Amino acid sequence: MMNLYKPVTIGSLTLPGNLFLAPVAGYSNRAFRSICIEQGADFTCTEMVSSEALTRKGVRTELLLPRAENEIRYAVQLFGSEPEVMYRAALLLAPWRPDAVDINCGCPVPKVVKTGAGSALMRSPEKLGRVVAAVVRASNESLGGVPVTVKIRSGWDAASLNYRECGRAAGESGAALVCLHPRTRTQGYAGRSDWFQIADLVSRLAVPVAGSGDLFSPEDAERMFRETRCAAVMFARGAMGNPFIFAAARALLSGDTWRAPIPRERFETAFRQLVLLARDVGEGLACREMRKQFCAYTKGINGGAALRNRLIHADTIEEYQVILDCSPLG
Ligand SMILES: Cc1cc2nc3c(=O)[nH]c(=O)nc-3n(C[C@H](O)[C@H](O)[C@H](O)COP(=O)(O)O)c2cc1C
Repeated sequence: MMNLYKPVTIGSLTLPGNLFLAPVAGYSNRAFRSICIEQGADFTCTEMVSSEALTRKGVRTELLLPRAENEIRYAVQLFGSEPEVMYRAALLLAPWRPDAVDINCGCPVPKVVKTGAGSALMRSPEKLGRVVAAVVRASNESLGGVPVTVKIRSGWDAASLNYRECGRAAGESGAALVCLHPRTRTQGYAGRSDWFQIADLVSRLAVPVAGSGDLFSPEDAERMFRETRCAAVMFARGAMGNPFIFAAARALLSGDTWRAPIPRERFETAFRQLVLLARDVGEGLACREMRKQFCAYTKGINGGAALRNRLIHADTIEEYQVILDCSPLG
């Protein structure tokens, strides 16, 4: 059987494998990225960071930028609509030494698209190209020429599928990788992603193409590699509360055996994530934020519902610890 787990070269950057964690606002903070790396993710990306906020020195942005201690390589994702602002924002990333800068051309959220950023950039491939060129220039001037990557959707709506034009514009403007999440802006996250479009883009671009969309199991990743010939896959919702998906996918792709984590290991991993998150955002917020994650971590576990009922009332790390330690499930 062919080994589908392999290195990926993105411009001057070579990654050991092709299993990436997607940028996911509200989830892919550095605590979770750290856990995903521990569990085998080959490349990670920050949540999207506003170029406007960054250039205005927004405080929250500072929280979004640092890498995790075990995060040897990472990308910072920027969003914005103005080439000049994106250029200045990218220059400001220098102290963080990102290994790649990703440009968000897929966010469907009204607050973002009404500023012309996110998926709204796809309405003008020409402008998208100028944004990419501006960030490439900043990378060459102050980031050591690290690769610039671009994450796009299928297009704005079903009547304006233009991932080919946008992918081409990105590549011609210096992007070293294009990631396609083949849903339109109008679709949001509903319906199925159309992987045929990933295969189509792979066949048309000279630069590597990563695939995103509906990767909820290791088997999905294997199927995406086979059906699209993409260079890398990006897990998003499928990794939330299930960072084990990276090691599982790697084993499947390499033909190795893999043992699913027992409940106790799941709890310990979730608990470590909570502690890491508390270090960054404080205990109260971390405990509230982790509720949704613990729900996912305990999904499918025998007695998980009763456990979740208790966990949703936990306000301190100690309470989490007591509930998880006392759990008879581990
Ligand atoms: C809650 C949420 C937040 C997201 N935030 C981002 C983001 O900040 N930047 C980005 O490029 N994509 C973002 N995405 C899109 C994902 O990276 C991914 O492309 C999409 O979820 C499709 O993959 P999936 O079907 O496997 O989840 C987000 C998706 C979700 C569900």
